[in-house]
Amino acid sequence: MRLFTSITGLRCYLNSQRFSHYRLEHPSSSQELSSPPPLDIGFVPTMGALHKGHLSLMQRARRENKIVVVSIFVNPLQFAPTEDLQRYPRTLEADRAQCEQAGVDALFVPSPEEMGVNKTHLSIPLLPQPPLRSVAQPAPNPQPPIPLTQVLPPASLASGLCGRSRRGHFQGVATIVTKLLNIVQPTRAYFGQKDAQQLAVIRQIVADLNLPIEVIACPILREASGLAMSSRNQYLSLEEREQAGVIYQGLRQAEELFRAGERSSSNLVEAVKAELRQTPTIAEEYIELVDPTTMETLNEVKDMGLLAVAARLGTTRLIDNVLLSTRRPIVAIDGPAGAGKSTVARLVAQRLGLFYLDTGAMYRALTWFVLESSVPVDDEPAIAELVSHCQIEFKGQVAQDNQAVVNSQNHPSTHPLPYPPTPLLSIFVNGKDVTQAIRSLEVTSNVSTIAAQATVREQLVKRQQMFGRQGGVVMEGRDIGTHVFPDAEIKIFLTASVQERARRRQQDLLNRGIGEVNLQELEQSISERDRKDSTRLIAPLRKAADAVEIDTDHLSIQQVCDRIISLYQERLPS
Ligand code: PAJ
Repeated sequence: MRLFTSITGLRCYLNSQRFSHYRLEHPSSSQELSSPPPLDIGFVPTMGALHKGHLSLMQRARRENKIVVVSIFVNPLQFAPTEDLQRYPRTLEADRAQCEQAGVDALFVPSPEEMGVNKTHLSIPLLPQPPLRSVAQPAPNPQPPIPLTQVLPPASLASGLCGRSRRGHFQGVATIVTKLLNIVQPTRAYFGQKDAQQLAVIRQIVADLNLPIEVIACPILREASGLAMSSRNQYLSLEEREQAGVIYQGLRQAEELFRAGERSSSNLVEAVKAELRQTPTIAEEYIELVDPTTMETLNEVKDMGLLAVAARLGTTRLIDNVLLSTRRPIVAIDGPAGAGKSTVARLVAQRLGLFYLDTGAMYRALTWFVLESSVPVDDEPAIAELVSHCQIEFKGQVAQDNQAVVNSQNHPSTHPLPYPPTPLLSIFVNGKDVTQAIRSLEVTSNVSTIAAQATVREQLVKRQQMFGRQGGVVMEGRDIGTHVFPDAEIKIFLTASVQERARRRQQDLLNRGIGEVNLQELEQSISERDRKDSTRLIAPLRKAADAVEIDTDHLSIQQVCDRIISLYQERLPS
């Protein structure tokens, strides 16, 4: 692991990595590159005093990127003069060892001067925050002459919840995070759901400033008592640590109520309050139900609510939250080509009465649109331009079919099943039914060229996420559980040995009257495809850490579906 304290050093390192990774991946390319080629960089900004919560962000970044950068910077801009800037724990040596162990490539530890935040800035008050609901008040005085450009998040996001007692805090976070994102220029930046308001502010900055970065939210890691891990937990005595667990117990009570159908804010908030009242040493600062994206107060949960708490225990301020969602479950099925994913996904969706989100059909629909528009299929910028004009919709009924006709004891390709089943849904592009048109030979022969384009992938993944927002979908692919729906309730990784997949393919070709193809040749081409799929720059095949692997070698399609359905019923009994 490399340690950098200067922006110049870190940037030089990242550029050299961009070039060397490119050369590694394109050994035969003799092209002289004038600018650094793109490289998957994962970035985890922190203030140090690292714990398992931070570590979980690093581990996720490690799994998803070629290079992982972690920053440690105790940002003076986000501390009010009365807060714990001086006292904030600084444990660089231990942090360094943890980063090294987590497989971090570069640790960035700048000084306040390097970040442009010297003592002069600190003696100047932060910009005044406009009040949340200003009723015909005069505008605040012109901003004081701070010799540092600052990022001011919208008041609606930054002045409620923690912003009420920590004025200027989110402006300090927004300014430093924007600087760090510009310094590192990562592909993905990882933030904890623990700081839900911070996460919402950062998402908004990235959207509003059009930063080409994916913000990834990671779940809250907790101690055995339920207390959310935090660097500030070091301030607590052993006894206080135990007591602090009551915050999460309160949130859990509310969560239970929510699961039982309670939607009203006042009742959910009261459930937390009742729990906190039992520990008088804990002083509540706020308990609120808000929209997790806009931070607007909610009277009831419609789709999604964030139940957030801040409380003091002695001199320590603690925050925690739970997301309450009415979203239906999502089933993500990933795995190598030829493992039977799409057949299984369709049947599972039918049997559970869920929507099979046919991503293949979406790529086909776009391909059809590109061909219709007479844009050459390799003109990536023109296609990128076209994507936003291509409105894709699925229309029709999701049929529940508990008696799916699956009676084969073998894989469908060896004993043909009624596959593909009659499409339940029609697909429309800009209001035109293209269900049949997207199956044309012309679309079939061009779809892979279009699906391989980075912008197409990125844009269609966003649409898939939109379709899945309410849940109730089954999706299959290479990175559904890791990238498209990392929060999916059920993640399956469907595999089969190369030999078995080659055997199935051989049988399939025979069934289709194409004749006998040499088994060894098939095995070789499948191995090669596996290698390509798992090393692809865009959407490589990855097994999610929490996916259940099903080896289909000795299973019939019926057995595979049964396994997934019983897993679904076990995990989501209601
Ligand atoms: P810090 O508190 O060090 O947290 C760094 C990152 O770790 C944040 O994204 C935070 O949400 C996440 N994190 C902290 N505790 C966690 C837990 N128990 N489980 C999961 N993730 C957790 O947040 C900051 O620093 C700063 O404000 C920063 C973003 C670095 C800007 O200065």
